[in-house]
Amino acid sequence: MDNASEKRKVILSGIQPTGTVTLGNYLGAVQNWRKMQEEFDCIYFIADMHALTVRREPQEFRQTSLSFFAQYLACGLDPKRSIIYFQSHVHQHAELQWILNCNTYVGEASRMTQFKDKSAKHADNINMGLMDYPVLMAADILLFQTDLVPVGIDQKQHLELTRDIAIRFNNRYGQTFTVPEPYIPTLGAKICSLQDPTVKMSKSDPDPNAGVSVIDDEATIVRRFKRAVTDSGSEIIMREDKPGISNLITIYAAIEGKTTDAVEREFEGSGYGDFKLKVGEAVAAKFKPIREEYARFMADKAYLQQTAAEGAQHAAYIAEKTLRKVKKKVGFVQF
Ligand code: TRP
Repeated sequence: MDNASEKRKVILSGIQPTGTVTLGNYLGAVQNWRKMQEEFDCIYFIADMHALTVRREPQEFRQTSLSFFAQYLACGLDPKRSIIYFQSHVHQHAELQWILNCNTYVGEASRMTQFKDKSAKHADNINMGLMDYPVLMAADILLFQTDLVPVGIDQKQHLELTRDIAIRFNNRYGQTFTVPEPYIPTLGAKICSLQDPTVKMSKSDPDPNAGVSVIDDEATIVRRFKRAVTDSGSEIIMREDKPGISNLITIYAAIEGKTTDAVEREFEGSGYGDFKLKVGEAVAAKFKPIREEYARFMADKAYLQQTAAEGAQHAAYIAEKTLRKVKKKVGFVQF
């Protein structure tokens, strides 16, 4: 029952527009985000400002960002129910980040594992943004008085830092920010690469055969699954020494809404080849309406523009309320 006096919790998440939304992103995150719209006030944005911490070719970056937005919508994130927008369209993110910067220690930021990893990986471009990345994340989250942030293990440390910054600010200036909690959805599977099932399926994997995306066509999806790396033996069971088959079982179960036990029973006695084909076909069937919807959106730039503008406007309205409060608390002159 809807109770108007009971405020719904605010949940927020961003995704960097690089590559495309993969099967791993879909099953691990986006599918849950769609479901969360029923229960929470959801805010989903394209983290294009975060993506700029790595060198991007402008033309391609713009295209990928727009494509991501259309993929979000095609996956069922609904602009009528949720706030969906581009981070760079809402200037309050950068403004709050500055103030939070002045309440964050260099020592904290430089201790972040992702900063250290990325510095090693992009040794020729250790820019200020790379170190400031988690403070921008804190701004994203705190602007909206977010209650819950669905985070994977790789972003957990950044959420911890966000909490530290929020608590510090509240202690110094008085209650200003909601201190966010991590949200671990009950559903949600960790999907691994089809070529190396010991690593996560990543949208930035250089090997195209490592994953599939929600907008790949049926032939591509089926072909990638046929080529998926499997293990020795012939049994279709979840087992630690069978990471390839276990990954495929996990995918099929998540796509079909079945338990992994049920999938093992379903394919008892089948061969690997047949199983891989079935998984590929199931994934392709699931993604077909998404791919079609995506094509419709990409052909309708006016709709995308309008939707993005409305999303940004709504986000800015809420963000500005927090920002005004913050500016007042820190002592900026306000008339
Ligand atoms: N850093 C996140 C990632 O790469 C994306 C992100 C940016 C984010 N801002 C956020 C996630 C705020 C949650 C909340 O996955």
